[in-house]
Amino acid sequence: MQIPAPLPPPAQAAPSARLGHATPSRLWPEEGYRRAPYWVYTDADIYALEQQRIFRGRAWHYVGLEVEVPEPGTFKTTFIGETPVVLARAEDGSLRGVVNRCAHRGNLICREPFGKASKLYCIYHAWSYTLSGDLSHAAFSQGLRGEGGLPADFDKAKHGLRKLRVDTLCGLVFASFHENIEPLTDWLGEVTPGIRRLLNRPLKVLGYDTQRIHANWKTYHENPRDSYHANILHTFYGTFGLSRQSQESAMTLDGSGRHVYFYTKAGTEKKSSDYESTTSQLRSHNEQMKLEDPSILRWRDEFGDGISVQILNAYPSFVLHQIANSLATRQLIPRGVRQCDLVWTYLGFADDNEATTRARLNQTNLAGSAGLISVEDAAVCEMMQRAFADGEDGASFIEMGGKTLESGGSSKLSERAIRNFWNVYRQDMGL
Ligand SMILES: [Fe+2]
Repeated sequence: MQIPAPLPPPAQAAPSARLGHATPSRLWPEEGYRRAPYWVYTDADIYALEQQRIFRGRAWHYVGLEVEVPEPGTFKTTFIGETPVVLARAEDGSLRGVVNRCAHRGNLICREPFGKASKLYCIYHAWSYTLSGDLSHAAFSQGLRGEGGLPADFDKAKHGLRKLRVDTLCGLVFASFHENIEPLTDWLGEVTPGIRRLLNRPLKVLGYDTQRIHANWKTYHENPRDSYHANILHTFYGTFGLSRQSQESAMTLDGSGRHVYFYTKAGTEKKSSDYESTTSQLRSHNEQMKLEDPSILRWRDEFGDGISVQILNAYPSFVLHQIANSLATRQLIPRGVRQCDLVWTYLGFADDNEATTRARLNQTNLAGSAGLISVEDAAVCEMMQRAFADGEDGASFIEMGGKTLESGGSSKLSERAIRNFWNVYRQDMGL
């Protein structure tokens, strides 16, 4: 294995100093995780440090589905942070993750989103690797007519692709750069039941799209942790009753504060609830709005527990949703300090009939990159980034539900999960 030892504990110096750049030192507001200074979304040094400490650090990152690499030789390419990676099914049927970068001169090896191959072959100098990432051949390694060639002490075993740890849960595949990270289900902790509830049988991919969001990745990461905004921003949640604060709902955080999921049960509100008196303050609540074709809102309680919406967010870059009968994973890929990609994979189950598949696809117009709900999340992230400007002034205020990591409890009317995110983020970043 060529994975380096874990990083030493962060030094006390400001990140810009640690990275050797001559930019001003950064001081986090004294309120701690109740504030997020806007420079954290705009500073290029912070962004570079995130790649090292979070994306190549001690974390599990979603890279795909087992069903996307169903048989030996199949592979997909994706990213962990900015690093290109390959997820492959090896000859023995095991799942393997490697960095998509030739050990010779750093060239990209796999260029297709998906493929099938007996080996991973670099077009530059024909170095080729097994599906597990071991170097099997280097062109002209013995030279030609006694000239050239690699040194006599060249050891193929020392020049494989960089290997990642891989682990799975319910058909989801995660990978990590960190050699000693705990097993995936331990990492996910108390949110694991939220995954098991949803992905309870073999999956089928219905389609993909990738959405470029012109905002720092953390604006999007915060969004599905924040159920406070759900029926305030989204007309389709509140007006049509798919998810309202007044309905039966709860939030579960894992013990570390990294991961969270929420659920809401449509149709469970009491008519006399306080919600009725607050709807007039919500721009998004529009009782005049009616749909000519309400089929997009129709949903079937397929899991038999009355939950109409469940949003699960695993630190730092994975979302799994059930919104009515729409199921999808969302993979967050940073693309520089001011933009990110959100890769949507729309899911069904292998045993779905055609009507169910059509219903799920129909609801990608509700919960998808251009969905009537989800499009508003990306729009808000982009507006936030515009308002941060250069990030040199101000910080967000994160005290809904209280001031501590515990306050807010399991209420959805709370920013507890966001406070916990910044707490973990600061630890990982040494900020
Ligand atoms: Fe939202």
